[in-house]
Amino acid sequence: MLSTENLVSGYEKVNVLQGVSMEIHRGEIVSVMGRNGVGKSTFVKTLCGLLPADSGSITFCGEDITKMKSYERAWKGISYVPQGHMVFPKLTVEENLQMGESIHPVKGKKPDYDLVYEYFPRLKERRNQEAGTMSGGEQAMLSIGRVLTGNSELMLLDEPSEGVQPNIVTAIGDIILRINKELNLTVLLVEQHIGLLQQVSGRAYAMDKGRIIDSLTREECLDYDRIRTYLSV
Ligand SMILES: Nc1ncnc2c1ncn2[C@@H]1O[C@H](COP(=O)(O)OP(=O)(O)OP(=O)(O)O)[C@@H](O)[C@H]1O
Ligand SMILES: [Mg+2]
Repeated sequence: MLSTENLVSGYEKVNVLQGVSMEIHRGEIVSVMGRNGVGKSTFVKTLCGLLPADSGSITFCGEDITKMKSYERAWKGISYVPQGHMVFPKLTVEENLQMGESIHPVKGKKPDYDLVYEYFPRLKERRNQEAGTMSGGEQAMLSIGRVLTGNSELMLLDEPSEGVQPNIVTAIGDIILRINKELNLTVLLVEQHIGLLQQVSGRAYAMDKGRIIDSLTREECLDYDRIRTYLSV
């Protein structure tokens, strides 16, 4: 579904990604794990088009999207859930969902808030609450729910566990597994949280210094000592 070939990107005067090649097939949940600052967010931002690729290529559903604008990638079905959740703090939960709809429009179809509320009943209870007043876990739910209103086929999730209390991380893991299965949404998960990585990963890549340094099967992901070597624990 998505593949990268020797992807290089970074910021002014800072090279971060040093040639990343990976692939994800339709229906999979694939994780990218790695310590702080290794380039995980840079990688997903390059995939969704917020950062330009300096060289290399990105292919999505057989099409070269390397130079495509981020909104075009969104229309094609790539959704992005940013690190730190990035909800609009002064807007209510439902208004935040409406913003998602403008990023991932569904042609000729009304956005299905009931679907979002079915996966996240807590968001329904809080539909009129300002998003900035919600807990980290609730904001994580909203940032995921926001992309479910649209036409997403591939969800890029950047550290959904950040700032979320442990029992809610597990609940979010359950939701990731359910939306993958029930909505046939392919998931690329960036994480450092071992519990969440082990709970949902179908397989995983380990990243260090802007490179993929290992590729792990699900069984290997379940080996605590093995994946710990790639993380800061
Ligand atoms: N806007 C920016 N301008 C310059 N350098 C940046 C910028 N954003 C990130 N970097 C640098 O790029 C490198 C990779 O950062 P990135 O955010 O991709 O790491 P990460 O793996 O997502 O880390 P974390 O787990 O802490 O989120 C770091 O050295 C970081 O300081
Ligand atoms: Mg990051």
